[in-house]
Amino acid sequence: MNGNRTFTMIKPDAVGNGHIGNILKDIQDAGFKIIAMKFTRLSEGQAGKFYEVHKERPFYGELVSYMSSGPIVAAILEKDEAVASFRTLIGATDPTKAEPGTIRAKYAESIAANAVHGSDSDENAAIEGNFFFSALEQVG
Ligand code: RTP
Ligand code: MG
Repeated sequence: MNGNRTFTMIKPDAVGNGHIGNILKDIQDAGFKIIAMKFTRLSEGQAGKFYEVHKERPFYGELVSYMSSGPIVAAILEKDEAVASFRTLIGATDPTKAEPGTIRAKYAESIAANAVHGSDSDENAAIEGNFFFSALEQVG
């Protein structure tokens, strides 16, 4: 991984509120190329595994049940400095603290239901992308 890929999910709140199209438009307008994408729903077990890194944190149970509460859109994205650039595009975890114009400022409901996930490092981007997509599915 050379720093040009990240992984995202459009979370259940944003899917349920009808924001898939607007969020994908913001992502493409910001210069990200889609390498892989799917619409799916995580079981509690899959969400627990995906967020295992957070299992000691007080919000882990809430996070796992929320992330398995409805469908999500998962995608691998490519752009120079993808991880940092995407986190700038989505804004702070807490949407009340997110910069105006960011995806979370525009579409999130709360700190838990915050519209999108973005990987926090190149290493995690690769792990998370490979959690959802086989090599054959990473076609972009
Ligand atoms: P993400 O991993 O989803 O892109 O979010 P992030 O890096 O901005 O935030 P992180 O600290 O990794 O937390 C992961 C997700 O857990 C939920 N959360 N809930 N109730 C709470 O206080 C709380 N804090 C975090 C959010 O859904 C957050 O995105
Ligand atoms: Mg995170």
